[in-house]
Amino acid sequence: TRLFLPLDTFAVACGADEIAAELREAAAARGLEIEIVRTGSRGMAWLEPLLEVETPEGRIGYGPVEPGEAAALLDAGLLRGGAHEKRIGRPEDQPFLARQTRLTFARCGVIDPLSLADYRAHGGLGALEAALAMAPGAIVAAVIESGLRGRGGAGFPTGVKWKTVAEAVADRKYIVANADEGDSGTFADRMIMEGDPFALIEGMAIAGLATGAAKGFVYLRSEYPVAIRVFGAALEAARRGGLLGASLLGSGQAFDIELRVGAGAYVCGEETSLLESLEGRRGQVRAKPPLPAMKGLFGRPTVINNVLTLASVPAALGDAAGYKELGTGRSRGTMPIQIAGNVRFGGLFEAPFGLTLGEIVEEIGGGTASGRPVRAVQVGGPLGAYFPPALFDTVFDYEAFAARDGLIGHAGVTVFDESVDMAAQARFAFEFCAEESCGKCTPCRIGAVRGREAMERLIAGDRPEFQRRLVEDLCETMKFGSLCALGGFTPYPVMSALRHFPEDFEGAALREAAE
Ligand code: NAI
Ligand code: SF4
Repeated sequence: TRLFLPLDTFAVACGADEIAAELREAAAARGLEIEIVRTGSRGMAWLEPLLEVETPEGRIGYGPVEPGEAAALLDAGLLRGGAHEKRIGRPEDQPFLARQTRLTFARCGVIDPLSLADYRAHGGLGALEAALAMAPGAIVAAVIESGLRGRGGAGFPTGVKWKTVAEAVADRKYIVANADEGDSGTFADRMIMEGDPFALIEGMAIAGLATGAAKGFVYLRSEYPVAIRVFGAALEAARRGGLLGASLLGSGQAFDIELRVGAGAYVCGEETSLLESLEGRRGQVRAKPPLPAMKGLFGRPTVINNVLTLASVPAALGDAAGYKELGTGRSRGTMPIQIAGNVRFGGLFEAPFGLTLGEIVEEIGGGTASGRPVRAVQVGGPLGAYFPPALFDTVFDYEAFAARDGLIGHAGVTVFDESVDMAAQARFAFEFCAEESCGKCTPCRIGAVRGREAMERLIAGDRPEFQRRLVEDLCETMKFGSLCALGGFTPYPVMSALRHFPEDFEGAALREAAE
C-alpha cells in the first residue's frame, strides 16, 4: 500500500520524519507491506503532518498526525482508509483546497517531488516541449500575452523583462532565480522548491530559451535546509533525465543550473545585492541603472525573477489566454497567498487575484487562532502596511493595495488579534530596517536608527507630538530617498500603524497633555 507523507519543512517541524520511521517499524512488526512516498505539502498547515493513503476511492488523509500515533493508525485500518479521529476524507474535498485554483501549485503535495516521471504524468514538461518548438521571440510574446507579472513583489511584467534581456547583445546571459525568501510569514518559494522543484527548473529552462541564456543560478537562503537538499537532488534528477544539460530533452539546446546558498542577510533578496553576493562579494545594493536586464550577473544581461514567477511560467505559458482570463484589473492569473500569524487556517492558498482581504482573513483563514477579534493584518511581509478590518474590502490586486498605501508584495498575509500593540509593531519596523540595512545609503542607514529612537521616545511619552512629526519626516525621507525597497518600504508599516491605530500611540500624548 502506498502512503504519502510530506517532506516539507512544515511537516518535518511537526515530526513527519519520526512518523515515517514509526510507520515503517509498526508496519514491519505487523507484517504489512507499505511504501512511503515523501511529497511536498498541500499547504494546509493546521493539518500537518498530513498522512495520506492510496485507496480505490482516491487518497484519504489523516491529520495532524503526531509522533507516537503510527501503530494506532495502522490498527485502525489506515491502509484501507479506515475510521479514525484524525481521518479527514479526501484532502481535495477540504473547503480550503476545494476553493483554490491551483496552477503553480497544482502538483505540490500530490507528486513525488524528485520523480521526473511523476512530474510528466501530472502535466509537467509540456510547456518546455512547446517552447522548444517556438522561436525565442514567440516565447517572449506568449509570456507577455499571459499577463504574468513579477511575483516577488514589484509586479513588473515578466515578458517585458525577458524581452529586454532577449534583445541585449552579449557573449553570455544568465537566468537567476531569487529564492532568498526573507519576508516573515512567507513560505511559497520554499514550498514549491520542496514540493515541485521541476516546475522552477522548467520555468528557468524556458527563460533560457526565450532570452538566449545557457546558464542559470538559484540563490537560496541558508535557513531552508530541506529546500537545499530537495532542490539539489532535483537538479541531479533533472540532469539524469535530460531536463538540464547539453541537450534539453534531446533538442540540442543547452541549459544548466547551479544552486548557491546565501548566508542569511535579508537585503540579499534585493536583486542587485543578490547579484553582488553571487559574484562573491558582500551583499550590498547597487544603484540602478544599469538594470540587471542590461548589465546583471558578471556584467551580463540577466533575467532575475522570483521563484514563484519562474515556477508559474509553465502554467502561464501552457495556456496564456486562459491564464490571462483569471484575475482582476492589471493583476492577471493566480497568486499563491500565504496566510500566517494568529489565524485558524493558515497555509498556502492559490487563487486568482480579486479576493477581498476580508475573504482571505475571515472566510478562508477562519479568523484568529486565539478566537479573539482580528485587529490588524500585515500584507507583504515586515515592510508591508497594516490593514484594520475597516479596510477588509480592499481587493487583492497590485494596484488596489497601492491605492490604499499598501502593497501585496510576495503575498504574505499575517494576522494579529486585539492583543497586538501597534506602537510596538511600528517600533519593530524601524528596528528591523536598522538591523538589516546594508548601509549603502543615508536615509536608510541613519533614518532607521533615528526612527527607532524617536518611536521609543514617543512610546515613552517624551514630547510625543514632536517625536511623531520627526517620525513622519523620517518616513518621508526614507520613502523617497532610499536606494532600495528595504529603506523605501519601512515607512509602510510605521505610517499605517500611526494612521489606522492612533489609539495605541495616544497614551503617550495624553501623558504629555497631563504634564
Ligand atoms: P523594482 O520596481 O525596482 O523592479 C522590479 C523588477 O523589474 C526588477 O527586477 C527590475 O530590475 C525590473 N525592471 C524595472 N524596469 C525594467 C525595464 N524597463 N526593463 C526590464 N526590467 C525592468 O522593484 P524591486 O526593488 O526589485 O523590488 C521591490 C519589491 O520587492 C517590493 O514590491 C517588495 O514587495 C518586494 N520584496 C520582496 C521580498 C521577498 O521576500 N520576496 C522581500 C522584500 C521586498
Ligand atoms: Fe542599503 Fe537600506 Fe539603502 Fe537599501 S535602502 S541600499 S538596504 S542602506
